[in-house]
Amino acid sequence: MQTIDLPTTDTNTAHTGSVPTPEEMKAICYDNYGPFENLKLREIATPQPKDNEVLIWSKAAGLHIGDCFTVRGNPWLMRVETGFLKPKTGIPGFDVAGIVEATGSKVTRFQPGDEVYGTTHGTCAEFVCASEETLALKPANLTFEQAATVPTSGLAALHALRDVAQVRPGTIVLINGASGGVGSFAVQIAKSMGAEVTGVCSTQSREFVHALGAYHVIDYTADDFTRGDKRYDVIFDNIENRSLSDCRRVLTSDGTLILNSGTGATGFALISRIIAPLILSPFTRQNLRRYLSVPGHADLTELKDLIEAGKLTPMIDKVYPLSETAAALASIEKGHTRGKVAVLV
Ligand SMILES: NC(=O)c1ccc[n+]([C@@H]2O[C@H](COP(=O)([O-])OP(=O)(O)OC[C@H]3O[C@@H](n4cnc5c(N)ncnc54)[C@H](OP(=O)(O)O)[C@@H]3O)[C@@H](O)[C@H]2O)c1
Repeated sequence: MQTIDLPTTDTNTAHTGSVPTPEEMKAICYDNYGPFENLKLREIATPQPKDNEVLIWSKAAGLHIGDCFTVRGNPWLMRVETGFLKPKTGIPGFDVAGIVEATGSKVTRFQPGDEVYGTTHGTCAEFVCASEETLALKPANLTFEQAATVPTSGLAALHALRDVAQVRPGTIVLINGASGGVGSFAVQIAKSMGAEVTGVCSTQSREFVHALGAYHVIDYTADDFTRGDKRYDVIFDNIENRSLSDCRRVLTSDGTLILNSGTGATGFALISRIIAPLILSPFTRQNLRRYLSVPGHADLTELKDLIEAGKLTPMIDKVYPLSETAAALASIEKGHTRGKVAVLV
């Protein structure tokens, strides 16, 4: 694919919706795994949808730590999906919100003009193709940048609490990393399920986490949630900075611990964090789980319904112009964004 390096710009003037789809589009591109400085705004060919895909005129992309991993190519496990030696897509971004521009011949759910949100690959671009299976109609009460922040993190929270933990009214839930991308959705979703929610965050995020609906907030700079007297039916651990045995100590005898961060440890410590719960599980009534959140139309629609019912609101830390995608990723990598980060395309 021939590409031209362009001066950076944050305006979207390539397409007005009333003219045919342009043959070329602006996109943030990288040729090799490595530092975020590798990312360049370029003009490349507009993709064509396959039979089961829609072409989306992207208005915003939502970013998360997985995007940092795919640009860096580290942890290596990510390369199973993104390409071993070189990035397959070469455009960051999994989450998107935009307007359907065209549909493949087998698409039944959407038509041009529909406002949609969901997941695919390479969303930091003016146009992107996505399977209709990983899209849903955009929540009507959200802006595009708000909607773009929902898919991966909102689904991760929904799958953990609804499917893995099977939270019910009255379930006592602790969410570690309550102010982050997944955590800010998890607090609200657990609350909407009738759970009593405790959120763990820094001093600066206390009010934020309370406002999301947490009944109790533990400031990790002052207290260690694994040292308290309270016992939890569910611990949703997005940080994994406490040992397995410490977390189990504050879990009820048949409670569920959901381990949701590969980023809290490296090397042997990481391997032991993955293997230890598997070895221990047959010998304890406690449910020690990792899970993989797989995006789908029905669950995106469930999130849309929660959002439109006023039970779930995406919280945005900052919106960046497309040309500043590298800065957006760098801010996520620091590990203290409050809520979500979006890129306006
Ligand atoms: N299982 C899946 O399929 C799946 C899907 C998506 C994501 N994930 C994983 O979920 C994890 C969380 O992702 P995310 O997008 O929520 O991350 P994130 O938004 O980058 O998390 C940032 C948050 O972490 C908090 N934090 C930092 N240090 C902390 C500490 N010591 N104790 C408690 N909170 C702390 C920060 O709060 P303060 O600023 O208040 O310190 C900040 O709000 C990642 O490891 C990601 O890989 C898994």
